[in-house]
Amino acid sequence: MIDMTLKTYQEKLDMRLDMLLNESESHYKSVIDSARYSLFAGGKRIRPVLLLEFYKLFGKNDDCAYNFACAVEMIHTYSLIHDDLPCMDNDDMRRGKPSNHKKYGEALALLAGDSLLTESFGVASRTMGIDGEYVAKAITYLSANAGISGMIGGQVIDTCGDFEITEDLLYEIYSLKTSALIKAACGCGAILAGADDDSFSKVETFAEKLGLAFQIIDDILDRVGNEEKLGKPVGSDLKNQKITIVDILGIDESRQRAKDLTDDAIGILDSFEGDTTTLKEITNYLLVRDY
Ligand code: IPE
Ligand code: IPE
Ligand code: MG
Ligand code: MG
Ligand code: MG
Repeated sequence: MIDMTLKTYQEKLDMRLDMLLNESESHYKSVIDSARYSLFAGGKRIRPVLLLEFYKLFGKNDDCAYNFACAVEMIHTYSLIHDDLPCMDNDDMRRGKPSNHKKYGEALALLAGDSLLTESFGVASRTMGIDGEYVAKAITYLSANAGISGMIGGQVIDTCGDFEITEDLLYEIYSLKTSALIKAACGCGAILAGADDDSFSKVETFAEKLGLAFQIIDDILDRVGNEEKLGKPVGSDLKNQKITIVDILGIDESRQRAKDLTDDAIGILDSFEGDTTTLKEITNYLLVRDY
C-alpha cells in the first residue's frame, strides 16, 4: 500500500522535476546533465512527499505545492552530491550508481550541487495558486532550515568538527544535518496550507523526531545494511572514523531509540484532526526500510 502511494507520488514528482530542470543546448549543458544524473538516480523522495502530505492534512487538496516539494528535493539532492565529495565523506556510490563526482569529476559535481541549491529557490518562488505571503514565509523557513543554523551547520559539525562525541552531541548533529531538512519539508507543507500556530509547532516536533529516527536508521544501515539494496557504501562511517549512535548504543539499543522516536512521532500524528493514515504509513515504513 505504502509502496503504491510512494510510487504514485514519485512519478508525479519526477514529471515536475523533469520540466523544471531541463536540458538545453548550451556550452554549460554539462552541469544540467550532471544535476539531472543525481536528481533522477532513484531517491526515495521522502521529503517532497512529506511536504505534500502535510499540505493535504491542512485541507489543501491540489497540485499547487508541487514546485515547492521539488525545490526541497533539489536541495536534498545537492546535499548528497556534496556529501559524497572526497573532501566530505568521499563515497563512490549513491542511489545505486557511481556518485556524481565519480561520473562527472569534482568540479562539475560541485557546480551541479550549487546549481540545484540556487535553482531550488527560484523554483520555490514560482509557486502558483498559493497566497504569496505563505510562499514567502515558506521560503524563509526553508532557507533557515537548509542553511547555517540547519543542515549546513550539522554537516559542519559532522565533517569538520573536532569535538568529543557524546550521545547528546550526536543528537544535536542529527537534528541539524537531517531533521532540519525534514522539518523544512513538513513545515513548508503546513505553512503553504495556512496551518495555525499550534498545529505548526506540532508539525515541527513530529519532523524533529522523525528526522532523528531517520538518521539513526541511516547509521544502522551504514553498519549492517546490504550495499546493493542501499545503493551507497556500507561502512562509510567506519572508513571515515565517524562515531555514530551505533558506536555508543550498539545496534539493538539504537534500533530501540529509533522505534521510540517513531512511536512519539505517530502519537503526534494521532493528535491531528485530519486524515494522517498515509503520514503514519510513511513514518512506520522509514523505521523498517532497508534502503
Ligand atoms: C540520505 O537521505 C541522507 C540522510 C539524511 C541520511 P535519503 O535516505 O532520503 O536518500 P535518498 O533521497 O533516498 O537517496
Ligand atoms: C548526511 O548524512 C546528511 C546530509 C545532510 C547529506 P550521511 O553522510 O550519513 O548520509 P549518507 O549516509 O551519505 O546518505
Ligand atoms: Mg555525511
Ligand atoms: Mg555521507
Ligand atoms: Mg549515512
